[in-house]
Amino acid sequence: MQVSNGQNKYYAESEEVKPLRIKDAERSFLISVEGKKYIDFGSGWCVGNLGWKNPELEKAIKNFNGPTYISPNLEYEPWIELAGLLSKIVPGKLTKCFRATGGTEAVEIALQAAKSYTGREEFIALDGAFHGNSIAAEGLVSDSPYFNWKKLKPPLNEEKLNELEKMLKTKKVAALIMEPISMNLGVMVPEFSFMQGMQDLCRKYGTLIIMDEVATGFGRTGKLFATEYFDIDPDIMCIAKALSGGAAPIGATIMKEEVGESLKKDNYPYSTYGWHPLSVAASIANVRFFQKHWGELQENIQFMNEYFRQRLSQMEFKKPVKMSIVGMAMNLDFGKSDYGEKVTKRALKNGLIVFEGITMFPALDIDFETAKAGLDILEKSL
Ligand SMILES: Cc1ncc(COP(=O)(O)O)c(C=O)c1O
Repeated sequence: MQVSNGQNKYYAESEEVKPLRIKDAERSFLISVEGKKYIDFGSGWCVGNLGWKNPELEKAIKNFNGPTYISPNLEYEPWIELAGLLSKIVPGKLTKCFRATGGTEAVEIALQAAKSYTGREEFIALDGAFHGNSIAAEGLVSDSPYFNWKKLKPPLNEEKLNELEKMLKTKKVAALIMEPISMNLGVMVPEFSFMQGMQDLCRKYGTLIIMDEVATGFGRTGKLFATEYFDIDPDIMCIAKALSGGAAPIGATIMKEEVGESLKKDNYPYSTYGWHPLSVAASIANVRFFQKHWGELQENIQFMNEYFRQRLSQMEFKKPVKMSIVGMAMNLDFGKSDYGEKVTKRALKNGLIVFEGITMFPALDIDFETAKAGLDILEKSL
């Protein structure tokens, strides 16, 4: 296994030593430069929901014969087509779709829209959550010197509503932003009653609800969008990652008509590479794939969810574990112990990729043989 030492001269690596160099990808496998095949239970953190090199997506990209680039001040038919497709599949009454290059930008646009519509400056996010890599997105969740935004601490149950009401009562909060099921907080599921109460309180005090579906969107949790579990009506939704299945960078912020109109008038969020033609072609093919195959995908998710649940519950972990499994999103929490980290490293040596912790996001269409082989490796690595 070729291991870099984290000291590339020109390429700025993240701090940790990268465990392997990837040359190619195929369905639920990643292939290293040495030609070794790894089973991928990570899907690039909720990007490759249809596995890598899905044939229908590949065809759309290979056959793409459109313009190199379109300036945002012009019009492009596929932009209108993609916006129309998205507003039909997202829950609630979200109809105005803004172009973004990825999740962080989609979140930025959502925050700007909420500020513009409400005329307020404050935000509420979940303590320890993640919404992107900009100063604003970081500021939402960290003790940032730039912003004094409010953090709501999980667990999200009915008792938490009192605390939330105190925050909202000031009528200074533009929006509450959260993942409907938090992938970044260990596949954390809020209580249904919290979500209902949260919606009532936000309406009462004029605060908008932003659902960040950047990671949960496109089937990851077993619903097309995780918001659907809670029967709520968000004002703004952010999507990215699996929107193009990893084929090209893209993000989108979809909002209610009146919120979108306010943002358009106030400060239209210009984005040079937002909805690049190639990304749009890949995303249209991706959405159409979901429209055509969602039934089969759901069956596989249900089957695999039960299979993973059963296998994981029978495994003999060497430390106490708290499991959270929703659809094809799985988190094994070993508390403060570094056991998860050790298992992740051993699994990698044995040919399985999972996120440290352990967090797993297998492709929604993974086949039984690959799922079994991956779980066998995990078991062997305990
Ligand atoms: C919930 C959530 N929001 C936003 C982002 C940022 O997305 P991007 O990396 O595409 O900027 C992420 C990235 O992991 C995410 O998980």
